Amino acid sequence: MSSTDMNAHKRTAAREAADMVKSGMVVGLGTGSTAAYMIERLGERVAEGLEIFGIPTSDDSEDKALKAGIPLTDFSAHRRIDIAIDGADEVQRGSLNLIKGLGGALLREKIVAQAAKRFVVIVDGTKPVDLLGERAPVPVEVISFGWECTAELLAACGARGVKPRTDRAGSLFVTDTGNMILDCHFGPIENPEKLADKIDRIVGVVEHGMFLNMASEVLVATPDGVEHWEP
Ligand code: 5RP
Repeated sequence: MSSTDMNAHKRTAAREAADMVKSGMVVGLGTGSTAAYMIERLGERVAEGLEIFGIPTSDDSEDKALKAGIPLTDFSAHRRIDIAIDGADEVQRGSLNLIKGLGGALLREKIVAQAAKRFVVIVDGTKPVDLLGERAPVPVEVISFGWECTAELLAACGARGVKPRTDRAGSLFVTDTGNMILDCHFGPIENPEKLADKIDRIVGVVEHGMFLNMASEVLVATPDGVEHWEP
């Protein structure tokens, strides 16, 4: 699939999800190229009279939302989110478990998803997999103190080639919360709950990018249209 086609598919799913939003809602605004199309569409709808507040999952999405004219709020004013809409790096067929965080925003994305009554995931047809980890690494956000020890403990869980994420220029990637990301290549993960439990026990891990039993629905954009998947 060409990248033009893929972007067109992402945009189709994103706009369909944005059209699920109703006036009065608090909306979780995801991060990434697919979520950017959703923010763009919400901005158009706000200009047409839709009354919402957004809670962005990253500084980048905050910038995009402000440019789109979407009024923003935060958890000090709203503890619950009516609908969160976000992309994903992998979606497991059947369970709708996800890997997220290749865009580096997994921590805030997971807090927003957890606070959401409805968590809608928008992906193109390259994202579905039979088992998580088939293609994507599991990004793990860790504090920088002692990251070398944290990396060894992740390797003991089965991760290969654990190293800190860097940007294109080779500089250390720092998350919006000031942490590092260790990309962990596990290969196909037979039991994500068990692996998540092991990773959660490692001191130094802030959060990992497996979103298990969190998605309410997934919109998968294919050349034949948008499929709606529910767990
Ligand atoms: C960011 C994410 C993104 O949702 C994920 O990387 C998908 O990005 P894209 O829509 O650009 O493919 O988890 O942390």
